[in-house]
Amino acid sequence: MEIAKGSFSALAVLILLGQALVLATFDSDTACSWGQDNCQISRDNKLTLILNQWSGAGVKGTKEFLFGYINMRIKLVPDDSAAVVTTYYTSSLWVSEENDIHDEIDFEFLGNVTGEPYTIHTNIFVNGVGKREEQFKPWFNPTSDYHTYTIFWNPYMIVWSIDGMVLRVFKNNEDKGIPFPKTKPMTVYSTIWNADDWACQGGRVKTNWTYQPFIARYMDYKDSVCLWTGTHSIQDCSAEIPQNWYTAPQFKQLTQVQIDSMKYIRSNYMIYDYCSDTERYNGTMPKECSLRPY
Ligand SMILES: *[C@@H]1O[C@H](CO)[C@@H](O)[C@H](O)[C@H]1NC(C)=O
Ligand SMILES: *[C@@H]1O[C@H](CO)[C@@H](O)[C@H](O)[C@H]1NC(C)=O
Ligand SMILES: *[C@@H]1O[C@H](CO)[C@@H](O)[C@H](O)[C@H]1NC(C)=O
Repeated sequence: MEIAKGSFSALAVLILLGQALVLATFDSDTACSWGQDNCQISRDNKLTLILNQWSGAGVKGTKEFLFGYINMRIKLVPDDSAAVVTTYYTSSLWVSEENDIHDEIDFEFLGNVTGEPYTIHTNIFVNGVGKREEQFKPWFNPTSDYHTYTIFWNPYMIVWSIDGMVLRVFKNNEDKGIPFPKTKPMTVYSTIWNADDWACQGGRVKTNWTYQPFIARYMDYKDSVCLWTGTHSIQDCSAEIPQNWYTAPQFKQLTQVQIDSMKYIRSNYMIYDYCSDTERYNGTMPKECSLRPY
């Protein structure tokens, strides 16, 4: 496919930079955080999350970081996965509903009835405010094999990519009054759960428990992040120094090749863009919607 050459190969660049890629593993860097019976972490960097009538399941990372690169290969629930939601995201600590100032970068996968496409849902929260959803239908079969989902986060931008292809970028436009996550350490999470009140075709299609257990499989969790060791990390992790590989000049913006392939994906596979939802915002669109997106 034409778009393959737009690969966002942070991995290749890391090798070029002579950086040792920190090999995270599910075994050493995550722990089952709920649904213990439905959460299996194995020594060979594999994770299985199961949803059945009794429970979903989830893992939470054991380290906190500011900026970096997180990579996972995921094989989503096959066949009838209607209303089953699988997630992979990073989030800062969520304190309370009244005082929600958390930051979050999301990939969510909304299942469907057999033969109908998954929805790849992306979002970003800054200081507790989300509502910046973009959705895509997959250009590949996400259930027949593993695909690589990458979150890249540096002081200049956040990039969502799949199999090295960029689908979304959220630029740091703080100078134009748009908040950008830079001060709160995040942790990685993955979950599977039942959302039949809304997730499939607007809630009309319910989870069909005949098909349980619903199983999502993960492998090859990798990252190269700046570990949070206290508030001084806000400065340390943002510093443009060689140790902070993600601050290198080539990571300040996407390359033209990446932009071209992203445009191709967005014009062919995007199914929802909050910046086009004028009805929802009643004429007052979020500020970033009027800026150059890439
Ligand atoms: C499921 O398939 C239907 C029909 O193709 C589509 O309208 C919908 O967006 C798909 N995804 C979800 C999550 O409902
Ligand atoms: C669930 O799936 C079974 C097997 O395909 C089917 O017979 C049944 O009608 C489905 N139930 C619902 C509520 O769609
Ligand atoms: C949208 O804006 C109009 C005009 O300012 C106002 O009358 C209406 O109540 C608003 N609707 C919503 C849902 O906010």
